[in-house]
Amino acid sequence: MINRLETAWETPSAGEVPSPDLVIQLDRIHKTYHLGDIEVHALRGISLGIRRGEFVAIMGPSGSGKSTMMNVIGCLDRPTKGHYLLEGADVSKVDKAGLADIRNKRIGFVFQSFNLVPRTSALENVELPMVYAGVPAAERSRRARAALAEVGLADRERSMPNQLSGGQQQRVAIARALVNNPSLILADEPTGALDTRTSIEVMEIFQRLNRDRNLTVIVVTHEQDIAQYANRIIQFRDGRLRRDFLVENRKSASDVLTQLLPEADGEDNDDFGDSK
Ligand SMILES: Nc1ncnc2c1ncn2[C@@H]1O[C@H](COP(=O)(O)OP(=O)(O)OP(=O)(O)O)[C@@H](O)[C@H]1O
Ligand SMILES: [Mg+2]
Repeated sequence: MINRLETAWETPSAGEVPSPDLVIQLDRIHKTYHLGDIEVHALRGISLGIRRGEFVAIMGPSGSGKSTMMNVIGCLDRPTKGHYLLEGADVSKVDKAGLADIRNKRIGFVFQSFNLVPRTSALENVELPMVYAGVPAAERSRRARAALAEVGLADRERSMPNQLSGGQQQRVAIARALVNNPSLILADEPTGALDTRTSIEVMEIFQRLNRDRNLTVIVVTHEQDIAQYANRIIQFRDGRLRRDFLVENRKSASDVLTQLLPEADGEDNDDFGDSK
């Protein structure tokens, strides 16, 4: 079923990963939070490498350090100890403004709760990272429209977040994560608030981006089913790596979607096809 990776640096079996270069190198990363007198050891010495074009699922019990690790990888938080190289550059030497720039240009974030700006259209939400990056207005709207089309929402660019379903909001969030052409997509429980079918639709988009653009994707999930869309699974426990292995018979989200009962009308029809 699965191949164990003996060390995080070992080359996965041939053909699994298109390119050998490491996007992420973590070397003995620790993160300790101080809560009054109490020290919380959220990460206790994490060493691992992630190559360009990998699709990694991070699993583990609540409190095991998954989000902390995503925050470190996403340059939202600094490790207490250890080294982090992002595309070969030591991030620990970068100042606050530099980190903000890295987050804006190189990393696309997707969250469980979508984090769209309310009362702001889908198109404007997707344009936002380009406003910060100083992209000219005409170019912004061109790229935002293309990104919305890529996630199947070309016809909803004027909709406000509260006029969109959860799955549609998450697709807007994915379009927003894509517009600055990041090298890395970080998604912390992106399907946590979605039903089964919508979750698979979101995984289909991630698989497509991973395959077609060779984008590196890291997804935190509690669901074994969702993790099977990745090509590698990393399990955390108590701030340490517990297992790190390749998924052999990786599932294709687009195949699974075609096998599901067809929807009657494309959207907003959750009563159809549900025989329970
Ligand atoms: N800002 C913080 N201040 C203090 N402790 C924190 C902080 N953030 C996280 N922790 C603690 O660090 C540990 C790891 O938390 P983390 O959020 O990384 O877990 P997780 O694996 O993402 O859990 P979940 O599956 O519930 O999201 C927990 O014990 C948590 O309470
Ligand atoms: Mg978490």
